[in-house]
Amino acid sequence: EFVPRRVTVVGCGYLGAVHAAAMAEIGHDVVGFDVDEAKVALLNTGHTPFYEPGLDDLLERTLATGRLRFTTSYQEAADNGDVIFLCVGTPQRKDSNAADLVYVRSAVENLAPLLTEPALVLGKSTVPVGTAEWVRDTLRELAPAGDAVRLAWNPEFLREGFAVKDTLSPDRLVVGVDDPADAAELATVYGPILEQGMPWVVVDLATAQLVKNAANAFLATKISFINAMAELCEATGADVVALADAIGHDARIGRRFLQAGVGFGGGCLPKDLRGFMARAEELGVDQALAFLSEVDSINLRRRKRAVDVATELLDGDVTGKRIAVLGAAFKPDSDDIRDSPALDVAGTLHEMGADVRVHDPKALDNARRTRPGPQYCDDVREALAGADVVLHLTEWREYRELDPAEIGALVAGKKLLEGRNALDVDRWVAAGWDVKALGRPRVGG
Ligand code: UDX
Repeated sequence: EFVPRRVTVVGCGYLGAVHAAAMAEIGHDVVGFDVDEAKVALLNTGHTPFYEPGLDDLLERTLATGRLRFTTSYQEAADNGDVIFLCVGTPQRKDSNAADLVYVRSAVENLAPLLTEPALVLGKSTVPVGTAEWVRDTLRELAPAGDAVRLAWNPEFLREGFAVKDTLSPDRLVVGVDDPADAAELATVYGPILEQGMPWVVVDLATAQLVKNAANAFLATKISFINAMAELCEATGADVVALADAIGHDARIGRRFLQAGVGFGGGCLPKDLRGFMARAEELGVDQALAFLSEVDSINLRRRKRAVDVATELLDGDVTGKRIAVLGAAFKPDSDDIRDSPALDVAGTLHEMGADVRVHDPKALDNARRTRPGPQYCDDVREALAGADVVLHLTEWREYRELDPAEIGALVAGKKLLEGRNALDVDRWVAAGWDVKALGRPRVGG
């Protein structure tokens, strides 16, 4: 039978805010902690500092039950912490490819001295393997409760845009422990979620940390593999979408994550890939992950390729040409522009002298702040008006629903770079557009 627990979530960024609300949703008494007062104030009113479908509703509902509150007090966090999830960020260091562990260290060192009662601490942040062992030893050393403070590692696989669903019904739950009793305790915390029947995977601490690194590295590799095939397709006149369909029918390969285009971005895949390589180097096994550096290079080449194709479509010179860019976020259903291929391409074309007009349904504020230069348009038609070429770089649903005939009347040149292979190209060609999709032959015009 489900027993509600006192749960603390440390770090209320993307991962922590969703996790805190999800834990309250399944019945726990939850305190979300963050050092950022503005963020905590916003969360306490049921709002998030970022866009995530369904999260505001979930927050509002769980706040209303009285089972959820947010605080900037370490003391309050510790006092509520029978079960403590560490959800702080691990960004890429400014001076190297390694992960910056400053937030992990600060959370552990501030919290540990306040832990006077037994507690189960669960690391959720993506970390270089070996970090969990440091967290465990530091907790033991600094916590007044000593050995009664236990540490397990419980990596998180949520995707932006699906964060609520991925947290409340994940594909699997993974936990790394020193002691099987800690896994059993965590299973009761996740009781209502585990009831849905997903795999419950118990491993050791090191494996749990590596599972997350490996999953992200594999996903990035899959995307770069198909983007490498896109280069081959373009050199031979072949079609990467047809190729992906054909190889994807093999169940061992699978069609998912074989979407060729401008490549991956976001706050996870790029920096986790680099952090993983940096850690392998420290461990003396850099050769094992040398191929990931190619995965990174292939990915970054896609952005250059998009700029080159846009230039080709403009007959070799972008200076003074008007370019409409559809999409700024690194993926649809998100306002996240971290390492976004779309924004990178838009910014580069602006620097090359083009008159770039960018639209995005949610990410414009972030884009304006981060990459000044291009003009940012709240209305997609404003971005399209008078454009010499249109670049589709983030596959929002509203772009698929555009009518190519109607749009054709707004632009100066009916030329489209399809950078995501998500639009119905035949419709655009039927409406008289000249279309070059990445990895596919140029058609129409
Ligand atoms: C990713 C992982 O999926 C998730 O499990 C992990 O916890 C965090 O990192 P996220 O960054 O939210 O999640 O986005 P995801 O949907 O994985 O997409 C990552 C990037 O890859 C996006 O820029 C997307 O556009 C791109 N992508 C994805 C492709 O270019 N092709 C594909 O086939 C799939």
